[in-house]
Amino acid sequence: MRVLSGIQPSGILHLGNYFGMMRPSLELAAKNDAYYFIANYHALTSQPEAADLKGFTFEVALDFLACGLDPAKTVLFRQSDVPEHVELSWLLSQVTPMGLLERCHSYKDKTARGVAANHGLFAYPVLMAADILIYQAEAVPVGKDQKQHLEVTRDIAIKFNEKYGETFHIPDPIIQEEVAVIPGLDGQKMSKSYHNTIPIFGEEKDIRKRVMAIVTDSLRPEDPKDPDQSTIFQLYQLIANPSDTEQFAARFRQGGMGYGDAKKEFFARIWEYFAPARARREELLKNKDHIEHVLREGAQKARAIAEKTLKSARERVGIE
Ligand code: ADP
Ligand code: TRP
Repeated sequence: MRVLSGIQPSGILHLGNYFGMMRPSLELAAKNDAYYFIANYHALTSQPEAADLKGFTFEVALDFLACGLDPAKTVLFRQSDVPEHVELSWLLSQVTPMGLLERCHSYKDKTARGVAANHGLFAYPVLMAADILIYQAEAVPVGKDQKQHLEVTRDIAIKFNEKYGETFHIPDPIIQEEVAVIPGLDGQKMSKSYHNTIPIFGEEKDIRKRVMAIVTDSLRPEDPKDPDQSTIFQLYQLIANPSDTEQFAARFRQGGMGYGDAKKEFFARIWEYFAPARARREELLKNKDHIEHVLREGAQKARAIAEKTLKSARERVGIE
């Protein structure tokens, strides 16, 4: 099965990205024909400083490799190294109703938060549709917040196929329902825009400090607590095995464990969980050229497919 996903290089990767997107993507990559790219054209919509965009693009590649992506098996590339995405997005724009884009939550949320309502932000889902359709992707692993963008992609593909004849495969989203939304320090969705993240990689001291800052209610250590209401528990269960998770839940319910102790245990777990990836990351950092090489080779492989799909779309509309 051909699997494709993208991630924006718009910040340091956090546990929400890891459990919502990276871990499922890496599991899928091990068993499928997978294409993962760093969506730097999309990241432009948040108006980053040029140096930041470049730096984060490199770091996302580094982090994916550190977390176990095997470039011999999985194609990893930069979106901008395959400019065919942008050309296809223009062709797709012609079958994209305004209303479809106007209904997108992500656009509405961002503009409501004061982000400038420019064309790039508005057309974001069309470029995302191009990213997916150009590889004839069958499955797209994403977090729940991207579900609507996948629906838009399917709609656009159906409309194009209806108007111009069968051109694109209609992709299915793969959404990890059980880890739907990973909570951040304040219990809201973990997101760099909410400044409530726990990074995957970072200084031990900083990560510990963030874990200790997870917001809790004011129950005393001796009070029984509901694990399902606790961000600490929700994060813990993502990395612990079922029997440790059950034990941890039981300690919440019976009382006697303070939130401070629960946080310390969670920190120790998470630090240990990422130890092998941290070691690989250190190794990778010794040879930055290698990462650039991986991205270029990935782009070459991706481009071979993208060129083919674009050619057929150009023929369909009468440009070629
Ligand atoms: P952020 O919200 O920090 O800006 P992105 O929007 O760049 O994160 O998300 C990148 C990927 O990680 C997407 O597939 C998204 O669905 C997933 N993701 C991000 N945050 C979470 C979260 N808290 N829970 C589940 N998945 C998430
Ligand atoms: N919009 C996605 C996000 O913010 C990133 C993305 C861009 C993407 N193009 C994609 C994800 C194509 C999957 C497929 O997370």
